[in-house]
Amino acid sequence: MSALVITGVPGLGKNLEENFTDQAGKKPVVISTWDHGLAANAEAWKILNSRGKALDAVEKGVMVTEDDFSNLSVGLGGLPDREGIVTLDASIMDENGRCGGVAFLERIKHPVSVARMVMEKTPHVLMVGSGAQKFALENGFKLEPKKLSPAAEKAYKEWLKRSEYKPKANIENHDTIGMVAIDAVGNLSGSCTTSGLAYKMRGRVGDSPIIGAGMYVDNEVGAACATGVGETVLRICGSYLVVELMRQGLSPMDACKKAIERLVVKNLNYREVQVGFLALNKKGEHGAFAVQKGFTYALADSGGNKMFDSDYFLR
Ligand code: GLY
Repeated sequence: MSALVITGVPGLGKNLEENFTDQAGKKPVVISTWDHGLAANAEAWKILNSRGKALDAVEKGVMVTEDDFSNLSVGLGGLPDREGIVTLDASIMDENGRCGGVAFLERIKHPVSVARMVMEKTPHVLMVGSGAQKFALENGFKLEPKKLSPAAEKAYKEWLKRSEYKPKANIENHDTIGMVAIDAVGNLSGSCTTSGLAYKMRGRVGDSPIIGAGMYVDNEVGAACATGVGETVLRICGSYLVVELMRQGLSPMDACKKAIERLVVKNLNYREVQVGFLALNKKGEHGAFAVQKGFTYALADSGGNKMFDSDYFLR
């Protein structure tokens, strides 16, 4: 039987038996950025494999990375801003277009869960700084010590010797974790969380907490997330662009490639930066593309949880 999908009407066309049957074998699937995606996917997969919701999978998945105090680009172990303070950005989005984000958040271990709470408990989409922290504390989150991880402290002291601020292409296999997933009934969700660019100016916010830049979901079409130098992604509303390109009929791979080609045109400094996009469509097909060599991503489906190298622009 062919899929019965009624588009343009919220709540219709979802969870239908015809949909599930049509796409059997291609879902659930979860993909996430960089090598740290492997451990995050493993957690997300536990939920997806027991017919849990994509929304829960993408939250619990990236919480693994946020929990890892040795990670220098996600969570409280991340590299600080130029004043020596770690500030966190995160976002989450579900199949109904509900979304939440937090930015410039200090001393809270799981910004992605605060983002989910913004989505579920407030009429807002984005909360920042001391207001976001107050909201988190009022909702059961704990204030963590104001302390850099040993590795971050060492790196920061080294950086202070020259205090030179130059975002550079991240080819060392670490940056934001972005994750997108489709669950057993065909619903999509996404998440994104980071400590942002190392030694950024105080108050700088990247693409990760901005819905449509660092991550975007449209349950009728697909989901996308981004990693890399956030300013370049913000300039093109990167993840939204990838989803819109899929809406026009491009495969996830071609949509990511086209978005990188746009980014290259709109960012004169593209040779000095790394950005990678990941995308998943409604059929559970995925794609990835980056500016430079070195972007890796993890994919978990019924065939296992594996790392892949992304294709890239600068050959
Ligand atoms: N993509 C993470 C950031 O630029 O903050």
